[in-house]
Amino acid sequence: MKAYIAGIGIYVPEKVLTNFDLEKIVETSDEWIRTRTGIRERRIVDENTATSDLAVIAAKRAIEDAGVKPGAIDAIILGTATPDMLFPSTACIVQSKIGARKVMAFDISAGCSGFLYGLGIADAMIKNGYDNILVIGAEALSKVMDFTDRATCVLFGDGAGAAVVKKNNDDESGIISSYFASDGSDWKLLHQPAGGSRIPASEESVKKRLHYIKMEGNEVFKLAVRAMIESAIETLKKANLSPKDIALLIPHQANIRIIEATAKRLDIPMEKVYVNLDRYGNTSAASIPIALAEARAEGRIKKGDYVLMVAFGAGFTWGGLLMRM
Ligand code: COA
Repeated sequence: MKAYIAGIGIYVPEKVLTNFDLEKIVETSDEWIRTRTGIRERRIVDENTATSDLAVIAAKRAIEDAGVKPGAIDAIILGTATPDMLFPSTACIVQSKIGARKVMAFDISAGCSGFLYGLGIADAMIKNGYDNILVIGAEALSKVMDFTDRATCVLFGDGAGAAVVKKNNDDESGIISSYFASDGSDWKLLHQPAGGSRIPASEESVKKRLHYIKMEGNEVFKLAVRAMIESAIETLKKANLSPKDIALLIPHQANIRIIEATAKRLDIPMEKVYVNLDRYGNTSAASIPIALAEARAEGRIKKGDYVLMVAFGAGFTWGGLLMRM
């Protein structure tokens, strides 16, 4: 028995923020952003929209795509670094808005690895008797972006993706293997300092701009490449497969240079790597489900294909998950 993705849904806000728009906000250029990151534009929520609003639309679409009713959902797992608020969980808000039964609903804080962590948890739950698990990755990162810090504000975007994970007793398709890891020793390289119990909100925390994302881009870059390679190798090892068996690699969409370095080390040609960060930037926990949905819509995934997803995010967290379609 395997757990498989029976339906996917995504939603990105309509408002597009291009590199040229950013040129008017901070001292940067389209050329710098494109050559250093591969990003051309990203989607941004309006001031009245929060993460759960994006998540609800993606979740409803995934449920419809899976051909189930909201009442059939047995658990809701939502990965996000930008919850509507610290508590209650954004997953609970989604539970009530999609008309699910009063089932288990919780957020996971694993940064950009949140969706893959969620799929891993869903896989384990399915093997323990659950069915119809809604896994969501959703972010409104623009709400915590410092639009005076050119080193971070050009990188991120908003969006949501969701999947309904079900039991498969019939054929070979489903989650084959996964690998997850974390290391908190370098947490300071990517974090949002204030708003929690360490530095509660105060006049000073606002004045010092501590409610925004802080990142040491160069250091994060190196760790990301290493972790994505490790994730791919360990996930494939568990399945007794090698990179050449993979039909499509779907990496977390952070930076084209991170993706290219990962693919090169794995000897996977870029034709077999899905990239859409030029249009969305880094949408953190939403990046892999959005990429998976678009790859499917573009016909890049066929029945029987092996698809490998790898992620890396704040924590640091990282991991891989291999699926047979
Ligand atoms: N526009 C123009 N110049 C910029 C800039 C911008 N948006 N952001 C930074 N710079 C400048 C820096 O100030 C620096 O100038 P200096 O040399 O005069 O000090 C110069 O560009 C080089 O900065 P550096 O940080 O060395 O660039 P980089 O090649 O490492 O690229 C990142 C920076 C952020 C694009 C890159 O490090 C990166 O993508 N890191 C990973 C981030 C990430 O993916 N995080 C999420 C992980 S899930």
